[in-house]
Amino acid sequence: MARLRRPVISARLRIISWMLSVLALALVTVVFVTWQVLAARADSSADDELSHEAAKFRSYAASPAAAAFTTPERLLEHWLQLNLPNDSETFFSTVDGRPFRRGHGKPPVRLDLDPAFVQRVAGVTEPEYGWTSTSAGRVRYGVLPVRIGSQPVRGQLVILEFRDVLAKPSQEAARALAVVGAVTLALAAGACWLVTGRVLAPIRQLRSTAEQIGGSDLRRRIEVVGTDDVAQLARTFNTMLDRLEVAFVAQREFADNAGHELRTPITVIRGHLELMGDDPADRAETKTLVLDELARMNRLVDDLLVLARSDRPDFLAPSEVNLTELVVEVVAKARPLADRVWRVDETADAVIVADGQRLTQALMQLVANAVRHTEDGDRIAVGSRVEAGRVLLWVADSGAGVKAADAERIFERFARGDDQPRTDGAGLGLSIVRSIARAHGGDVRLASQHGPGARFELILPEGVLR
Ligand SMILES: Nc1ncnc2c1ncn2[C@@H]1O[C@H](COP(=O)(O)OP(=O)(O)OP(=O)(O)O)[C@@H](O)[C@H]1O
Ligand SMILES: [Mg+2]
Repeated sequence: MARLRRPVISARLRIISWMLSVLALALVTVVFVTWQVLAARADSSADDELSHEAAKFRSYAASPAAAAFTTPERLLEHWLQLNLPNDSETFFSTVDGRPFRRGHGKPPVRLDLDPAFVQRVAGVTEPEYGWTSTSAGRVRYGVLPVRIGSQPVRGQLVILEFRDVLAKPSQEAARALAVVGAVTLALAAGACWLVTGRVLAPIRQLRSTAEQIGGSDLRRRIEVVGTDDVAQLARTFNTMLDRLEVAFVAQREFADNAGHELRTPITVIRGHLELMGDDPADRAETKTLVLDELARMNRLVDDLLVLARSDRPDFLAPSEVNLTELVVEVVAKARPLADRVWRVDETADAVIVADGQRLTQALMQLVANAVRHTEDGDRIAVGSRVEAGRVLLWVADSGAGVKAADAERIFERFARGDDQPRTDGAGLGLSIVRSIARAHGGDVRLASQHGPGARFELILPEGVLR
């Protein structure tokens, strides 16, 4: 039982873990891609801002107003006073290798106080752009040298764009996205747990019912609710139980009947042996009787074995069988059984692929029945014919025939005619004939429905013809 319970729980966990893995992968991808896109956008907007400020400075430097300044100090001072940097940028200037004036505002980091950076930019005589790392993140910088007339370059304007300040809103958005994603994941896990629980509940119910249905109680069925897949499963399961029940009942009946049939000769043998006296004549009579009963038992066991094997794939050993030879052989074998008028009705000049020994066995069962239901001098005929593509093999007799009421029943296992004495047989003969016929893909039928005379026909399908 524990083995059955485990798969249901693990199925639930498996579904949830699969779903969550897929969802998590999707969310991580979305957050990562968003992050990357926003980072790239921050870089390019730092670039744009820098280009914009540089262009502004260049056009200022070329303007007539700027032409009035005779020193870089004056020009830089004037421009820095005029231009207000926004939150994500700052300007400062250097003159003669030292920091000179600084623009308005309070930048997140003071690069004009960084001697290494100042030294690097103060020597620049051609415009230079680049990236540098600071404690406030990456910074996009531009250095624009200031040349007054034909004087050598003494001053530089430094424009700094704080890329991380520009990226801040988008970083926050990406972070919020990640948080929302994590919450969604947690909610999805909860929802998935509830949904799988509800979906798997009927299966669990199905399982527990199935557990309660043992081999002894095959009459129980699973309650079918609704029309969904689970209901269909329950229905299929019930149909399987129907089939199992039928098979079990048939098997039990068969075992009961077999036991009953075997018990009778055993009782008879025991009775005779218990009552056997010392008189030699009495002993001889008892011996004959006991041997007779044992022979009956032997035959019964043989018949039961044939029936038990008839479902197995190796029941038949097919080979080429000549129909004429088969019929003639059966009559030859039958002739010594009783004093009857034995006839070969007609026979087809055909060769079939079938199990000759099993067909002989079937025909001999029919012959034995015919002998049993006829008297000395009655006629018993065996024949074969190919008719409408099918092969017919028959045994016909001139006895009393089969009563209409018995016509169907006699083919069942252990079914005998009402007026048949016990000693005559167990009622397995026609079942064996039917098993052999069906193993060949055919069947057996009672061709003469209303007496007098009985005619049993084996019908084999077209496929057996060579
Ligand atoms: N040729 C026949 N004429 C009249 N009745 C027959 C004939 N063949 C079979 N039957 C009827 O069919 C019944 C079933 O036949 P089946 O061969 O299955 O059993 P059985 O002959 O009684 O016993 P078993 O074959 O096991 O010795 C017989 O009991 C008999 O009543
Ligand atoms: Mg029989």
